[in-house]
Amino acid sequence: MTKPIYVLNGPNLNLLGSREPEIYGKTTLADIEKMVADRAVTLGLETDFRQTNSEGELVTWIQEAREGSAGLILNAAAYSHTSIAIFDALSALDVPIMEVHLSNIFKREEFRHHSYVSPIAQGVICGLGAQGYELALDAIRGRLD
Ligand code: DQA
Repeated sequence: MTKPIYVLNGPNLNLLGSREPEIYGKTTLADIEKMVADRAVTLGLETDFRQTNSEGELVTWIQEAREGSAGLILNAAAYSHTSIAIFDALSALDVPIMEVHLSNIFKREEFRHHSYVSPIAQGVICGLGAQGYELALDAIRGRLD
């Protein structure tokens, strides 16, 4: 059986839809999960979509992705800007990694301009909202062939 693409989401993304809608829009995480699942069917991929508010759980899932996944789409949310533990976990991963942010982090506060995920990721998509997840899936598909 083919391995799924892990789609991992970090802290506060469970609040999408009601959290700062002027920045993140009205789309919920469940809406994004559905969009990703539909896109995956079109591309002939399977996805494993998860969200956690815990840094440690995110690290554990990234470790799990070493054996369990064919690729990783990661929106580590605020941990993108702070977590050396996530940087280290990603460094041990040998599958295509796409970093996604719904908002354009470069148009926002300076502390969001640095990401510990970006130096490890093959690609970074930000500012395109939920569409970024679909584009990341397309990009991973292209790197699996
Ligand atoms: C985010 C951007 C981060 O700076 C922020 O902490 C988030 C969401 C985004 O998807 O735009 O929680 O990753």
